Amino acid sequence: DYGNRARLLAANKAAAEYFVSQLVRPEAEPARRFLGERGFDPAAAERFGVGFAPKSFDALSTHLRSLGFTEAELVTAGLLSTGERGGAYDRFRGRLVWPIRDVTGQTLGFGARRLLDDDKGPKYLNTPETPVYHKSQVLYGLDLAKRDISKGKQVVVVEGYTDVMACHLAGITTAVATCGTAFGVDHIKVVRRVLGDFDNADSTALGEVVFTFDPDEAGQKAASRAFAEEQRFAAQTFVAVAPDGLDPCDLRLTRGDEAVRLLISGKKPMFEFMIRRVLAEHDLDTVEGRVAALRAAAPVVAGIRDRALSTGYVRNLAGWLGVDPSEVSRAVSAAQ
Ligand code: GTP
Ligand code: MN
Ligand code: MN
Ligand code: MN
Ligand code: MN
Repeated sequence: DYGNRARLLAANKAAAEYFVSQLVRPEAEPARRFLGERGFDPAAAERFGVGFAPKSFDALSTHLRSLGFTEAELVTAGLLSTGERGGAYDRFRGRLVWPIRDVTGQTLGFGARRLLDDDKGPKYLNTPETPVYHKSQVLYGLDLAKRDISKGKQVVVVEGYTDVMACHLAGITTAVATCGTAFGVDHIKVVRRVLGDFDNADSTALGEVVFTFDPDEAGQKAASRAFAEEQRFAAQTFVAVAPDGLDPCDLRLTRGDEAVRLLISGKKPMFEFMIRRVLAEHDLDTVEGRVAALRAAAPVVAGIRDRALSTGYVRNLAGWLGVDPSEVSRAVSAAQ
């Protein structure tokens, strides 16, 4: 169905251009205000292809049909939704829109943010699964980041579209984001391909992957889950958590570009991060607290499959707890 695929990509390209053209219109004022309040000037919006979907059920479809696209094609591309009674209407309405592109720059789909508090619907709305858009495989920003990713052997994974923009503007040009889903094993494959490593299935040279998460989040667990499955890369996986629950966008806004760079350079190895997170839930000043902490942290160390890493973390955990390494060893064995 290559012809179909090409048509869907063409429809997405035309839609992206349409959304950009709408951003300068008077009714896009809330979109421009949102961008401004997030620290993004018009040049930044242009660099990322950000646009505005008018608050209309048929503005986009009227435009795209005038270009020769059929309703069926637009529904298949995810640009139109179908109602219960069969009518089709513009999916994205009154939203700020980011084009989600593949590594070659083709627009596969869109992420769209609500602008007004009284709007119904979720804060973010994405293209549904289509023949060209698979959320488990797309990384927002990859087209802009790929050169520096392969040059620096580093990829920075953030949570949101605004975080990708903030990172790039702050000089972290290896930043990408998942799109409304957790980082998973398919994303690892995509990153490896960018690193030119797709031919060598046994290679453990992924390069460095740095995750940033909103500190309180499910995303933390999700990423560790992906890397628990793909432990070949565990030694190259890092976590960076911003102070005070700030994401990279907020961090840049309140503390400037340098704070974003410091966030990334202050990354911690993933296993250290996971273990310290467990320790932080306990009172290490008491014997009881340390025993409980050891019991809670032992399964994390027991899950490390690389022998050298696991031995190292037994020693580190003993140090962090102020107990004998043999005691940690016993607890880890018991947890296995
Ligand atoms: P902003 O207010 O836009 O800065 O977002 P935030 O940083 O407060 O939001 P959050 O950290 O929740 O969002 C980060 C990313 O998660 C977004 O870029 C989306 O990809 C995704 N996300 C957040 N909320 C939703 C939602 O309601 N639906 C979907 N599908 N994805 C969401
Ligand atoms: Mn496909
Ligand atoms: Mn969040
Ligand atoms: Mn956030
Ligand atoms: Mn945010």
